[in-house]
Amino acid sequence: MNSIHIQGGVALQGKVRIQGSKNAVLPILAATLLTKETSYIRNCPRIADVYKMVSLLKSLGCSVSWDEGGIRINAERVCCGDMPVEAVTGMRSSLCLLGALIGRCGEVIMEHPGGCVIGERPIDLHIQALEQMGVVFREEEGRMMAFAQNLHGAEITLPFASVGATENIILAAVMAEGDTIVYGAAKEPEIEALCSYLECCGANIDGAGSSVLRIRGGRPLYDAEYLVPADRIVAGTYLFGCLGTGGNTLLEQAPWKDMKSVIRIAEQMGAQCTVAEEGLYVQAPERPKSIGFLRTEPYPGFPTDLQSMALAVQTLGDGDCVIEETIFENRFRVVEPLKKMGADIEVQGAGRILVRGRETLRGTAVEAKELRGGAALVLAGLMAEGETTITGCQYIYRGYENICRDLRELGARIISV
Ligand code: UD1
Repeated sequence: MNSIHIQGGVALQGKVRIQGSKNAVLPILAATLLTKETSYIRNCPRIADVYKMVSLLKSLGCSVSWDEGGIRINAERVCCGDMPVEAVTGMRSSLCLLGALIGRCGEVIMEHPGGCVIGERPIDLHIQALEQMGVVFREEEGRMMAFAQNLHGAEITLPFASVGATENIILAAVMAEGDTIVYGAAKEPEIEALCSYLECCGANIDGAGSSVLRIRGGRPLYDAEYLVPADRIVAGTYLFGCLGTGGNTLLEQAPWKDMKSVIRIAEQMGAQCTVAEEGLYVQAPERPKSIGFLRTEPYPGFPTDLQSMALAVQTLGDGDCVIEETIFENRFRVVEPLKKMGADIEVQGAGRILVRGRETLRGTAVEAKELRGGAALVLAGLMAEGETTITGCQYIYRGYENICRDLRELGARIISV
């Protein structure tokens, strides 16, 4: 299933259920290493990154089984041996095993984690923070080795609110001796989800969702059942799909409380968004409005993960829009394929583009180069006249359980081949 074919020009109509959150479930799966009992993680999305994390957990000695409702993980016997190189390097989130394994075993040997090609993605903040907690790092033959003989709490100030670094600190800190305070912590909902799972296991964490976290270390952790929240980025993707096609949809179980900045931008583009118990209703105008300016920011600002989708919609806007990307320097790889589809986009420097809205996009063959840019191409295909073929879809399946099925439920003419 490596290509997606779309006959564009159909307005999305109807309802679709939003899958569990990728960015929440991955650190939670890593966190299951911290208890020797059985965890049951419900509503796990069936996506490539989750399969990779499961294979990593198995390689570490966990017994893992899927059922209809979720994944059961028993981490009674964990050996900090070799992890499959491909699973580590193929996925940035393998990095949260660093904090989890330091917490569980006091040592880690792993390749440098990979991920999308959206930027340089250094890990200096992770390393500096864990060093403050007593972790010693070494590099041997390109592999990263980390040891902690005496893992202890610390007062850590993050110079940038890195999501991954905040997660790694939390994972190590719940197992460390003494308290850890994190200033400048990331406030993303996925951090709250991780903390709330760990609290179900018996951890004590104050301040989740704020920039100051206090974690009491060394408490025993027990078995827990946890329901993964719905994916705000997938919900946002379908919201922009609805906007770009002039549709009318219900995004069932969309986590609208975590989507305020996204809803605000969608409303500026002309959408009518109504929140209800069952999810988020979106009614789009015939043509999206151009919003003039959009900048990505850490939560609660507009998420970098939805920038490409907002950009795709703005290509059909009724005027101009400048988009500034402030989180990842390489999130504009989608510009070239969008231009091939007829979009008018000018790159104005690193991290800044100008989109001039046009009447139409035309379907053609394009290639996905990364996860979110790939999803944006799917939206562009829905918005375009004629047929669009997208290759490189393995990136899209990293984060979307079944984007073609979901969009077909909304009436789109889309298949994967
Ligand atoms: C997570 C999300 C990703 C989202 C991003 C920002 C997961 C699996 N991924 O990625 O989808 O786009 O948050 O919301 O949850 N940085 C450093 N040094 C570090 C760490 C980060 O310079 O040690 C930089 C990065 O290069 C990037 C910025 O900080 O420019 C943000 O990174 P971070 O918040 O850590 O994102 P991730 O955790 O990688």
